[in-house]
Amino acid sequence: MIDVTALTKTYGAHRAVDDLTFTARPGRVTGFLGPNGAGKSTAMRMMVGLTPPTSGTATVCGRRFADLPNPPREVGVLLDASAQHAGRTGREILTIAARTIGLPISRVGESLEQVSLTATEADRRVRHYSLGMRQRLGIAAALIGDPDVLILDEPANGLDPAGIRWMRDVLRGFSQRGGTVLLSSHLLGEIEVVADDIVVIGHGRIVAQGTKAELLAGAGTFVVPADPADAATLVRACTDAGVEVVRDSDGGLRVEAEAPAVGRLAHRADVPLAQLRAADGAGLEEMFLQLTADTQRETPAPLRGAAA
Ligand SMILES: Nc1ncnc2c1ncn2[C@@H]1O[C@H](COP(=O)(O)OP(=O)(O)OP(=O)(O)O)[C@@H](O)[C@H]1O
Ligand SMILES: [Mg+2]
Repeated sequence: MIDVTALTKTYGAHRAVDDLTFTARPGRVTGFLGPNGAGKSTAMRMMVGLTPPTSGTATVCGRRFADLPNPPREVGVLLDASAQHAGRTGREILTIAARTIGLPISRVGESLEQVSLTATEADRRVRHYSLGMRQRLGIAAALIGDPDVLILDEPANGLDPAGIRWMRDVLRGFSQRGGTVLLSSHLLGEIEVVADDIVVIGHGRIVAQGTKAELLAGAGTFVVPADPADAATLVRACTDAGVEVVRDSDGGLRVEAEAPAVGRLAHRADVPLAQLRAADGAGLEEMFLQLTADTQRETPAPLRGAAA
């Protein structure tokens, strides 16, 4: 469990993190999504005691990070995969980590296995690692103490599609065993495939939060009239009912209402439909772009699923 309450960081007049409040729960992957400069890394650094907050608190497993008796046994952290000592081998880095935490050296082999780094790769110097191998090593270092919580800043950075899938499986497995995962990304696609819950920030402030399902539901309904000539009739029916509708480039319409309501509107307008379904990630992407472009307002956008 990670509890963030009114967390704020100012640099001079600039509020890098502004009154951030959310909880990352056990058994769930929480995606921390925001564009470049939104304040994700600053917030995460405060959670793990590397940056002192200006105000507010962050606790991990009920305590401030600085008060954890043996932090790596409670929380695995990956903030910057390129920060590892380039002159050491992967195995050396994990061995030092295991010794520091007071773990048997057998944990090194186990954690290498967890991230599918081979023995040959483990004995190579980190400077010769690809970005993807560094990310795997970083995850291995985060997992080595068998923590309950993972805090990962852009862990999918530099991973190819197979690597992203691998990461998703590792994080899913970890959360299914009851672990808490918080991972950041500036890419919606990376968060969307793995997260159960999503916190979206822009300019240091939360602009939306909820379960992925809730935020996706907020994307509205996608419909395609059986006869393209009926699109205009359907748009008029929606507009007359006070429901927002956006035309898609390929003949579909994205309607800001739940599917049953859209079905009734189409029926009343006598427009047969070829498709009627919840709008997918494209809607969430639009929401992400909209929300992050419009974060100067006083209060967060009134999204369905946005927790108080
Ligand atoms: N030490 C610092 N001194 C001054 N400003 C800082 C400092 N660290 C971060 N900032 C500013 O705080 C804001 C948030 O930065 P942060 O690195 O947390 O964003 P981010 O969401 O992690 O972005 P990215 O996706 O690019 O990693 C930025 O405007 C950044 O310039
Ligand atoms: Mg960052």
